[in-house]
Amino acid sequence: MKLQKLTLTLPDRKIDYFLGTRILHLIPDLLEKQKYTAEIVMIIDSSVNELYGEKITEILKQRSFSPHLILIPPGESNKNLHQAVLLYEQFCKLNITRRTPVIAFGGGVATDLVGFAASTFMRGLPLILVPTTLLAQADAAVGGKTGVNLKQGKNLIGSFYHPEAVFLDLEFLKTLPAKEICGGMAEIVKMGFLEGEKRIREIEKTMEEIQTIRGKSGGEWLEKIHPSLYHAIQKKITIVEKDPYEKKERMILNLGHTFAHGIEAAGNYKKYSHGEAVAVGLVGACLLAEEILKFPQAHTRRIETLLKKIGLPVRYKKLNPLEIFNYMTQDKKKTEMLRFILPKKIGEVVICDKASPSLVLKILEKLRGD
Ligand SMILES: NC(=O)c1ccc[n+]([C@@H]2O[C@H](COP(=O)([O-])OP(=O)(O)OC[C@H]3O[C@@H](n4cnc5c(N)ncnc54)[C@H](O)[C@@H]3O)[C@@H](O)[C@H]2O)c1
Ligand SMILES: [Zn+2]
Repeated sequence: MKLQKLTLTLPDRKIDYFLGTRILHLIPDLLEKQKYTAEIVMIIDSSVNELYGEKITEILKQRSFSPHLILIPPGESNKNLHQAVLLYEQFCKLNITRRTPVIAFGGGVATDLVGFAASTFMRGLPLILVPTTLLAQADAAVGGKTGVNLKQGKNLIGSFYHPEAVFLDLEFLKTLPAKEICGGMAEIVKMGFLEGEKRIREIEKTMEEIQTIRGKSGGEWLEKIHPSLYHAIQKKITIVEKDPYEKKERMILNLGHTFAHGIEAAGNYKKYSHGEAVAVGLVGACLLAEEILKFPQAHTRRIETLLKKIGLPVRYKKLNPLEIFNYMTQDKKKTEMLRFILPKKIGEVVICDKASPSLVLKILEKLRGD
């Protein structure tokens, strides 16, 4: 599979995203070029370490680097300040300097947590991201947002901090459970939806070729997913370049996310994964857009068909719509309206602050699958 390089251009620097298979040897190439210290800190999700730790360490050692391995426990519940403090303490113990590179291996939990720790320790350490889930490759590791959760809410603490480079190796996806692949696909569909007709058609075609993600080994569909992933990353890069600090344009990345956040929270973050909630949320955005913007019903059906084909839910079950609504409005003042990103057509969205509570509840009723 051909190696592809995508570049995110910021006012003061450029960040390269390398996408391909078996590309980890490019990491020591970069380390040598940047003249960092030979000691490097490798922070890795412990489940990923079991699968790939030895291989990665070997690649680095072969090129005379001394990796210090730090394991982080997997799961969203560990994306917190306590884990960040444990990382700071390890950094102190290792006497690291501002030229010591930190490499994060794992899903979005690892890239967000390590990114946050690296951005704040000594006001910033060189950071390299190696996302190992589809969601992290398509979304979390692109765009320079880092963060940890508080018990009061997700991602409440964080920073904008770009890595030196990002290595997206599709080989990692071979061991990823189908549920996680589907979750990543939801964000890829969202990005395709933002981009337009051509991209949605491409994802539809990919899914026709793959048939189903569940029950198939990664080797069978990895190559096929490559173009859709590439274009999702490219789309996010283009949006981030226009608005690096999320003042305006970047908000459109929240397509489907207003409903999704309510659904995730009402399900106690267990019943629906983020990607699954985004899938239902995308349908919610379409249904609301049918009412407000005359978004064609046929297009809603088309998006639903695609999400179903991937193996994603398009309705929620066993949740109370009022409860979802309350979670959606939790951080709003009484007079404030909910903000939705709504499609006018495939490839064109608008920011909408005028959906009345009764209309939102009507859509939540329509989104009920039981
Ligand atoms: N910073 C951003 O812009 C941004 C954007 C989207 C999402 N996020 C964040 O990303 C997080 C979700 O990321 P995620 O879905 O990758 O979750 P995750 O990091 O929890 O990974 C999911 C699971 O897959 C396992 N895993 C990781 N790589 C694997 C591999 N190659 N093979 C087998 N198992 C593997 C992990 O141990 C974990 O159990 C959330 O915290 C979310 O807030 C951040
Ligand atoms: Zn998302």
